[in-house]
Amino acid sequence: MKDIELRKRDHIRISLERDVSFRNKTSWFEYVELIHSAAPELDFSGISTKVRFLSREFSAPFLVEGMTGGTGEAEKINGNIAEAAAEFGIPAGVGSQRAAVKNPKLVRTFKIARDRAPDAFLIANIGAVQLVEDGIEMALKAIDMIEADAIAIHLNPLQEVIQPDGGAFFKGFYRMVRRLKEEVGIPVIVKEVGCGISGPVSAALAENGVDAIDVAGSGGTNWTLIEKIRAEHSGAEDKVSLAEVFIDWGIPTAAAVLESRAFTDTPIIASGGIRTGLEAAKALALGCDMVGFAHPILVEAVKNPEAVLGKLRQLRMELVTAMFLTSCGDVDTLRHTEFILLGPLLDWARQRCVNHPKLRRKQL
Ligand SMILES: Cc1cc2nc3c(=O)[nH]c(=O)nc-3n(C[C@H](O)[C@H](O)[C@H](O)COP(=O)(O)O)c2cc1C
Repeated sequence: MKDIELRKRDHIRISLERDVSFRNKTSWFEYVELIHSAAPELDFSGISTKVRFLSREFSAPFLVEGMTGGTGEAEKINGNIAEAAAEFGIPAGVGSQRAAVKNPKLVRTFKIARDRAPDAFLIANIGAVQLVEDGIEMALKAIDMIEADAIAIHLNPLQEVIQPDGGAFFKGFYRMVRRLKEEVGIPVIVKEVGCGISGPVSAALAENGVDAIDVAGSGGTNWTLIEKIRAEHSGAEDKVSLAEVFIDWGIPTAAAVLESRAFTDTPIIASGGIRTGLEAAKALALGCDMVGFAHPILVEAVKNPEAVLGKLRQLRMELVTAMFLTSCGDVDTLRHTEFILLGPLLDWARQRCVNHPKLRRKQL
Protein backbone atom coordinates (compact mmCIF):
# COMPACT_ATOMS: atom_id res chain seq x y z
CA MET A 1 0.00 0.00 0.00
CA LYS A 2 1.31 3.47 -0.86
CA ASP A 3 1.82 6.11 1.87
CA ILE A 4 -1.32 8.02 0.97
CA GLU A 5 -3.49 4.87 1.05
CA LEU A 6 -2.02 3.91 4.43
CA ARG A 7 -2.82 7.40 5.71
CA LYS A 8 -6.47 7.10 4.57
CA ARG A 9 -6.76 3.67 6.16
CA ASP A 10 -5.27 5.02 9.43
CA HIS A 11 -7.76 7.92 9.45
CA ILE A 12 -10.78 5.60 9.17
CA ARG A 13 -9.46 3.05 11.66
CA ILE A 14 -8.32 5.59 14.27
CA SER A 15 -11.66 7.47 13.98
CA LEU A 16 -13.62 4.26 14.50
CA GLU A 17 -11.48 2.51 17.11
CA ARG A 18 -10.26 5.33 19.35
CA ASP A 19 -12.04 8.17 21.13
CA VAL A 20 -10.89 11.05 18.94
CA SER A 21 -13.08 13.81 20.30
CA PHE A 22 -11.73 16.95 21.97
CA ARG A 23 -10.46 16.48 25.53
CA ASN A 24 -11.55 19.62 27.32
CA LYS A 25 -13.78 21.23 24.76
CA THR A 26 -17.22 20.67 23.31
CA SER A 27 -18.97 22.23 20.31
CA TRP A 28 -20.69 24.57 22.87
CA PHE A 29 -24.29 23.77 21.96
CA GLU A 30 -24.92 23.19 25.70
CA TYR A 31 -24.60 26.98 25.96
CA VAL A 32 -27.56 27.51 23.60
CA GLU A 33 -31.12 27.15 24.92
CA LEU A 34 -34.20 27.12 22.72
CA ILE A 35 -37.40 28.27 24.42
CA HIS A 36 -39.97 25.58 25.16
CA SER A 37 -43.47 26.25 23.84
CA ALA A 38 -46.08 24.52 26.01
CA ALA A 39 -48.74 25.21 23.38
CA PRO A 40 -47.25 24.77 19.91
CA GLU A 41 -49.68 26.17 17.37
CA LEU A 42 -49.21 23.22 14.96
CA ASP A 43 -49.53 19.46 14.49
CA PHE A 44 -46.41 17.30 14.78
CA SER A 45 -47.25 15.51 11.52
CA GLY A 46 -47.48 18.81 9.61
CA ILE A 47 -43.88 19.90 10.29
CA SER A 48 -41.73 20.25 7.15
CA THR A 49 -37.94 19.89 7.14
CA LYS A 50 -37.59 20.71 3.42
CA VAL A 51 -34.96 23.29 2.46
CA ARG A 52 -33.47 24.98 -0.59
CA PHE A 53 -29.67 25.09 -0.66
CA LEU A 54 -27.37 25.98 -3.58
CA SER A 55 -30.46 26.22 -5.85
CA ARG A 56 -31.61 22.65 -5.09
CA GLU A 57 -34.41 21.22 -2.92
CA PHE A 58 -33.48 18.82 -0.10
CA SER A 59 -35.68 16.83 2.28
CA ALA A 60 -33.84 18.07 5.39
CA PRO A 61 -31.20 20.69 6.28
CA PHE A 62 -28.64 17.88 6.62
CA LEU A 63 -25.45 17.10 4.73
CA VAL A 64 -23.03 14.19 4.99
CA GLU A 65 -19.55 15.63 5.31
CA GLY A 66 -16.74 14.47 3.02
CA MET A 67 -14.65 11.79 4.70
CA THR A 68 -12.87 9.21 2.68
CA GLY A 69 -11.70 7.39 -0.43
CA GLY A 70 -8.52 5.70 -1.63
CA THR A 71 -8.87 2.26 0.01
CA GLY A 72 -11.17 -0.76 -0.32
CA GLU A 73 -12.96 0.04 2.93
CA ALA A 74 -13.36 3.67 1.84
CA GLU A 75 -14.97 2.52 -1.42
CA LYS A 76 -17.64 0.66 0.54
CA ILE A 77 -18.17 3.67 2.83
CA ASN A 78 -18.53 6.13 -0.08
CA GLY A 79 -20.99 3.83 -1.87
CA ASN A 80 -23.13 3.32 1.24
CA ILE A 81 -23.21 7.04 2.06
CA ALA A 82 -24.09 8.12 -1.50
CA GLU A 83 -26.88 5.56 -1.79
CA ALA A 84 -28.40 6.54 1.57
CA ALA A 85 -28.04 10.29 0.94
CA ALA A 86 -29.77 9.96 -2.45
CA GLU A 87 -32.61 7.97 -0.91
CA PHE A 88 -33.00 10.45 1.96
CA GLY A 89 -32.72 13.44 -0.40
CA ILE A 90 -29.69 15.27 1.03
CA PRO A 91 -26.21 16.20 -0.29
CA ALA A 92 -23.14 14.08 0.46
CA GLY A 93 -19.42 14.66 0.12
CA VAL A 94 -16.53 12.32 -0.58
CA GLY A 95 -13.13 12.67 1.09
CA SER A 96 -10.04 14.33 -0.36
CA GLN A 97 -9.57 13.09 -3.94
CA ARG A 98 -5.91 14.02 -4.24
CA ALA A 99 -4.76 10.39 -4.06
CA ALA A 100 -7.01 9.36 -6.96
CA VAL A 101 -6.08 12.33 -9.15
CA LYS A 102 -2.46 11.21 -8.79
CA ASN A 103 -3.15 7.45 -9.03
CA PRO A 104 -5.97 6.45 -11.44
CA LYS A 105 -6.21 2.98 -9.81
CA LEU A 106 -7.93 4.66 -6.85
CA VAL A 107 -10.57 6.48 -8.93
CA ARG A 108 -13.15 3.72 -8.41
CA THR A 109 -13.06 4.25 -4.61
CA PHE A 110 -14.64 7.68 -5.21
CA LYS A 111 -16.54 7.06 -8.45
CA ILE A 112 -18.54 4.36 -6.64
CA ALA A 113 -20.54 7.23 -5.08
CA ARG A 114 -21.81 8.36 -8.50
CA ASP A 115 -22.26 4.76 -9.75
CA ARG A 116 -24.42 3.86 -6.75
CA ALA A 117 -26.33 7.17 -6.72
CA PRO A 118 -26.74 8.64 -10.23
CA ASP A 119 -29.11 11.39 -9.00
CA ALA A 120 -27.40 12.30 -5.73
CA PHE A 121 -26.07 15.81 -5.03
CA LEU A 122 -22.39 14.92 -4.63
CA ILE A 123 -19.64 17.20 -3.39
CA ALA A 124 -16.06 16.74 -4.65
CA ASN A 125 -13.21 17.44 -2.20
CA ILE A 126 -9.62 18.63 -2.37
CA GLY A 127 -7.35 20.43 0.08
CA ALA A 128 -6.48 24.12 -0.05
CA VAL A 129 -2.83 23.03 -0.16
CA GLN A 130 -3.45 21.03 -3.36
CA LEU A 131 -5.33 23.94 -4.90
CA VAL A 132 -2.38 26.23 -4.18
CA GLU A 133 0.32 23.72 -5.20
CA ASP A 134 -1.26 21.79 -8.08
CA GLY A 135 -3.64 24.42 -9.45
CA ILE A 136 -7.14 24.35 -10.93
CA GLU A 137 -6.44 21.19 -12.95
CA MET A 138 -6.57 19.10 -9.76
CA ALA A 139 -10.01 20.53 -8.89
CA LEU A 140 -11.37 19.94 -12.40
CA LYS A 141 -10.24 16.31 -12.32
CA ALA A 142 -11.86 15.77 -8.91
CA ILE A 143 -15.14 17.21 -10.19
CA ASP A 144 -15.06 15.07 -13.34
CA MET A 145 -14.26 11.92 -11.36
CA ILE A 146 -17.64 11.87 -9.58
CA GLU A 147 -19.59 14.23 -11.89
CA ALA A 148 -19.85 16.48 -8.85
CA ASP A 149 -22.64 18.99 -8.24
CA ALA A 150 -20.39 21.15 -6.02
CA ILE A 151 -16.77 21.14 -4.85
CA ALA A 152 -15.51 21.58 -1.29
CA ILE A 153 -12.02 22.91 -0.62
CA HIS A 154 -10.81 21.96 2.84
CA LEU A 155 -8.74 24.24 5.04
CA ASN A 156 -6.67 22.27 7.56
CA PRO A 157 -3.70 24.44 8.59
CA LEU A 158 -3.20 22.80 11.99
CA GLN A 159 -3.50 19.27 10.61
CA GLU A 160 -0.93 20.08 7.90
CA VAL A 161 1.54 21.25 10.55
CA ILE A 162 1.04 18.25 12.82
CA GLN A 163 0.81 15.40 10.31
CA PRO A 164 4.21 13.77 9.79
CA ASP A 165 3.83 13.97 5.98
CA GLY A 166 2.04 17.34 5.83
CA GLY A 167 2.81 20.52 3.90
CA ALA A 168 1.47 23.84 5.17
CA PHE A 169 1.36 25.88 1.94
CA PHE A 170 -1.55 28.33 2.07
CA LYS A 171 -0.06 31.49 0.56
CA GLY A 172 -2.02 32.48 -2.54
CA PHE A 173 -5.16 30.58 -1.49
CA TYR A 174 -7.66 33.41 -2.08
CA ARG A 175 -6.29 34.08 -5.57
CA MET A 176 -6.76 30.38 -6.39
CA VAL A 177 -10.32 30.44 -5.01
CA ARG A 178 -11.18 33.33 -7.34
CA ARG A 179 -9.71 31.43 -10.30
CA LEU A 180 -11.57 28.29 -9.30
CA LYS A 181 -14.85 30.23 -9.21
CA GLU A 182 -14.15 31.53 -12.72
CA GLU A 183 -13.38 28.09 -14.13
CA VAL A 184 -15.89 25.70 -12.58
CA GLY A 185 -19.56 26.06 -13.35
CA ILE A 186 -20.65 24.57 -10.02
CA PRO A 187 -20.90 25.96 -6.46
CA VAL A 188 -17.68 26.21 -4.46
CA ILE A 189 -17.83 25.38 -0.74
CA VAL A 190 -14.91 26.09 1.60
CA LYS A 191 -14.72 24.02 4.78
CA GLU A 192 -12.52 23.48 7.81
CA VAL A 193 -12.00 20.02 9.26
CA GLY A 194 -12.59 20.68 12.97
CA CYS A 195 -10.88 23.93 14.02
CA GLY A 196 -13.66 26.27 12.86
CA ILE A 197 -13.88 29.27 10.53
CA SER A 198 -14.03 32.73 12.13
CA GLY A 199 -16.31 35.59 11.07
CA PRO A 200 -13.58 37.63 9.35
CA VAL A 201 -12.34 34.57 7.39
CA SER A 202 -15.95 33.80 6.39
CA ALA A 203 -16.33 37.40 5.18
CA ALA A 204 -13.11 37.11 3.14
CA LEU A 205 -14.27 33.81 1.63
CA ALA A 206 -17.62 35.37 0.69
CA GLU A 207 -15.86 38.38 -0.88
CA ASN A 208 -13.80 36.01 -2.99
CA GLY A 209 -16.93 34.39 -4.41
CA VAL A 210 -17.37 31.26 -2.26
CA ASP A 211 -20.97 29.96 -2.44
CA ALA A 212 -21.17 28.31 0.99
CA ILE A 213 -18.97 28.12 4.10
CA ASP A 214 -18.79 24.96 6.21
CA VAL A 215 -17.46 26.16 9.56
CA ALA A 216 -16.48 22.63 10.80
CA GLY A 217 -15.75 23.88 14.30
CA SER A 218 -14.09 22.22 17.26
CA GLY A 219 -15.82 19.86 19.68
CA GLY A 220 -16.24 16.83 17.40
CA THR A 221 -13.64 14.82 15.47
CA ASN A 222 -10.23 16.11 16.56
CA TRP A 223 -7.65 15.96 13.76
CA THR A 224 -4.83 17.14 16.02
CA LEU A 225 -5.44 14.05 18.14
CA ILE A 226 -5.73 11.73 15.11
CA GLU A 227 -2.43 13.02 13.71
CA LYS A 228 -0.85 12.78 17.17
CA ILE A 229 -1.78 9.08 17.30
CA ARG A 230 -0.26 8.60 13.82
CA ALA A 231 2.88 10.49 14.89
CA GLU A 232 3.19 8.21 17.94
CA HIS A 233 3.06 5.15 15.67
CA SER A 234 5.74 6.54 13.37
CA GLY A 235 7.98 7.71 16.23
CA ALA A 236 7.81 11.40 15.25
CA GLU A 237 8.35 12.66 18.81
CA ASP A 238 8.54 16.35 17.84
CA LYS A 239 5.08 16.16 16.21
CA VAL A 240 3.65 14.33 19.24
CA SER A 241 4.77 17.14 21.59
CA LEU A 242 3.54 19.83 19.20
CA ALA A 243 0.12 18.14 18.92
CA GLU A 244 -0.10 17.91 22.71
CA VAL A 245 0.17 21.71 23.03
CA PHE A 246 -2.53 22.36 20.39
CA ILE A 247 -4.76 19.40 21.26
CA ASP A 248 -7.85 21.52 22.06
CA TRP A 249 -7.20 24.36 19.57
CA GLY A 250 -10.08 25.76 17.56
CA ILE A 251 -13.32 27.73 17.51
CA PRO A 252 -16.21 25.73 19.03
CA THR A 253 -18.86 25.07 16.38
CA ALA A 254 -21.65 27.14 18.00
CA ALA A 255 -19.28 30.17 18.24
CA ALA A 256 -18.11 29.66 14.63
CA VAL A 257 -21.73 29.68 13.39
CA LEU A 258 -22.55 32.85 15.36
CA GLU A 259 -19.40 34.60 14.08
CA SER A 260 -19.85 33.61 10.48
CA ARG A 261 -23.51 34.67 10.50
CA ALA A 262 -22.51 38.01 12.07
CA PHE A 263 -19.99 38.68 9.29
CA THR A 264 -21.69 37.39 6.13
CA ASP A 265 -25.02 36.50 4.47
CA THR A 266 -23.42 33.66 2.48
CA PRO A 267 -24.97 30.24 3.24
CA ILE A 268 -23.37 28.54 6.24
CA ILE A 269 -23.06 24.84 6.97
CA ALA A 270 -22.67 24.07 10.69
CA SER A 271 -20.54 21.01 11.38
CA GLY A 272 -18.05 19.72 13.90
CA GLY A 273 -19.35 17.70 16.82
CA ILE A 274 -23.04 17.91 15.95
CA ARG A 275 -24.40 14.66 17.30
CA THR A 276 -28.18 15.08 17.67
CA GLY A 277 -31.10 16.64 15.84
CA LEU A 278 -31.55 18.94 18.85
CA GLU A 279 -28.01 20.31 18.35
CA ALA A 280 -28.86 20.69 14.65
CA ALA A 281 -31.97 22.70 15.63
CA LYS A 282 -29.83 24.95 17.85
CA ALA A 283 -27.31 25.50 15.01
CA LEU A 284 -30.17 26.46 12.66
CA ALA A 285 -31.57 28.87 15.25
CA LEU A 286 -28.09 30.46 15.47
CA GLY A 287 -28.38 31.17 11.74
CA CYS A 288 -26.81 28.36 9.72
CA ASP A 289 -28.48 27.03 6.54
CA MET A 290 -27.44 23.37 6.67
CA VAL A 291 -25.99 21.01 9.28
CA GLY A 292 -23.17 18.57 8.47
CA PHE A 293 -22.40 15.23 10.11
CA ALA A 294 -19.21 13.20 9.67
CA HIS A 295 -18.29 10.76 12.48
CA PRO A 296 -21.88 9.71 13.39
CA ILE A 297 -22.43 8.72 9.74
CA LEU A 298 -19.04 6.98 9.38
CA VAL A 299 -19.99 4.60 12.21
CA GLU A 300 -23.06 3.49 10.21
CA ALA A 301 -21.52 3.66 6.73
CA VAL A 302 -19.06 0.84 7.50
CA LYS A 303 -22.17 -1.38 7.82
CA ASN A 304 -24.65 -0.73 4.98
CA PRO A 305 -26.84 2.00 3.42
CA GLU A 306 -29.82 1.02 5.62
CA ALA A 307 -27.81 1.77 8.76
CA VAL A 308 -26.95 5.25 7.40
CA LEU A 309 -30.60 5.82 6.52
CA GLY A 310 -31.65 4.74 10.01
CA LYS A 311 -29.27 7.28 11.57
CA LEU A 312 -30.51 10.07 9.28
CA ARG A 313 -34.14 9.26 10.16
CA GLN A 314 -33.30 9.35 13.88
CA LEU A 315 -31.59 12.74 13.48
CA ARG A 316 -34.59 14.08 11.56
CA MET A 317 -37.01 12.83 14.24
CA GLU A 318 -34.95 14.68 16.88
CA LEU A 319 -34.93 17.83 14.74
CA VAL A 320 -38.69 17.65 14.14
CA THR A 321 -39.29 17.17 17.88
CA ALA A 322 -37.25 20.31 18.63
CA MET A 323 -39.21 22.16 15.94
CA PHE A 324 -42.52 21.01 17.44
CA LEU A 325 -41.46 22.10 20.95
CA THR A 326 -40.47 25.55 19.68
CA SER A 327 -43.62 25.86 17.56
CA CYS A 328 -41.69 26.00 14.28
CA GLY A 329 -43.57 24.45 11.36
CA ASP A 330 -40.70 24.81 8.88
CA VAL A 331 -36.94 25.32 8.82
CA ASP A 332 -37.15 29.00 7.94
CA THR A 333 -39.26 29.66 11.05
CA LEU A 334 -36.72 27.71 13.13
CA ARG A 335 -33.93 29.91 11.72
CA HIS A 336 -35.81 32.93 13.08
CA THR A 337 -36.79 31.47 16.46
CA GLU A 338 -35.44 32.89 19.70
CA PHE A 339 -32.47 31.47 21.58
CA ILE A 340 -30.67 32.19 24.82
CA LEU A 341 -26.88 32.16 25.02
CA LEU A 342 -25.19 31.09 28.23
CA GLY A 343 -21.72 31.12 29.82
CA PRO A 344 -18.65 31.24 27.57
CA LEU A 345 -20.73 31.43 24.38
CA LEU A 346 -22.43 34.57 25.66
CA ASP A 347 -18.98 36.05 26.49
CA TRP A 348 -17.80 35.14 23.00
CA ALA A 349 -20.88 36.70 21.37
CA ARG A 350 -20.43 39.93 23.37
CA GLN A 351 -16.87 40.30 22.12
CA ARG A 352 -17.21 39.07 18.54
CA CYS A 353 -20.76 38.82 17.26
CA VAL A 354 -22.51 42.14 17.87
CA ASN A 355 -23.39 42.35 14.16
CA HIS A 356 -25.32 39.07 14.21
CA PRO A 357 -28.78 39.90 12.81
CA LYS A 358 -30.58 38.30 15.78
CA LEU A 359 -28.19 39.58 18.45
CA ARG A 360 -28.31 43.18 17.23
CA ARG A 361 -31.76 43.49 18.74
CA LYS A 362 -30.68 42.18 22.14
CA GLN A 363 -28.74 44.15 24.77
CA LEU A 364 -25.71 41.86 24.92
C1 LIG B 1 -12.49 9.50 8.90
C2 LIG B 1 -12.64 10.95 8.52
C3 LIG B 1 -11.99 11.39 7.38
C4 LIG B 1 -12.12 12.74 6.98
N1 LIG B 1 -11.53 13.14 5.80
C5 LIG B 1 -11.79 14.39 5.33
C6 LIG B 1 -11.35 14.76 4.02
O1 LIG B 1 -10.72 13.99 3.30
N2 LIG B 1 -11.67 16.01 3.59
C7 LIG B 1 -12.37 16.89 4.36
O2 LIG B 1 -12.67 18.00 3.91
N3 LIG B 1 -12.77 16.57 5.61
C8 LIG B 1 -12.52 15.34 6.09
N4 LIG B 1 -12.99 14.98 7.34
C9 LIG B 1 -13.56 16.02 8.23
C10 LIG B 1 -15.06 16.05 8.21
O3 LIG B 1 -15.54 16.40 6.92
C11 LIG B 1 -15.64 17.03 9.25
O4 LIG B 1 -15.28 18.35 8.88
C12 LIG B 1 -15.12 16.77 10.65
O5 LIG B 1 -14.95 15.40 10.87
C13 LIG B 1 -16.03 17.33 11.73
O6 LIG B 1 -17.28 16.67 11.77
P1 LIG B 1 -17.69 15.57 12.91
O7 LIG B 1 -17.33 16.15 14.24
O8 LIG B 1 -19.16 15.37 12.70
O9 LIG B 1 -16.89 14.33 12.63
C14 LIG B 1 -12.88 13.65 7.76
C15 LIG B 1 -13.53 13.17 8.92
C16 LIG B 1 -13.42 11.86 9.31
C17 LIG B 1 -14.12 11.39 10.56
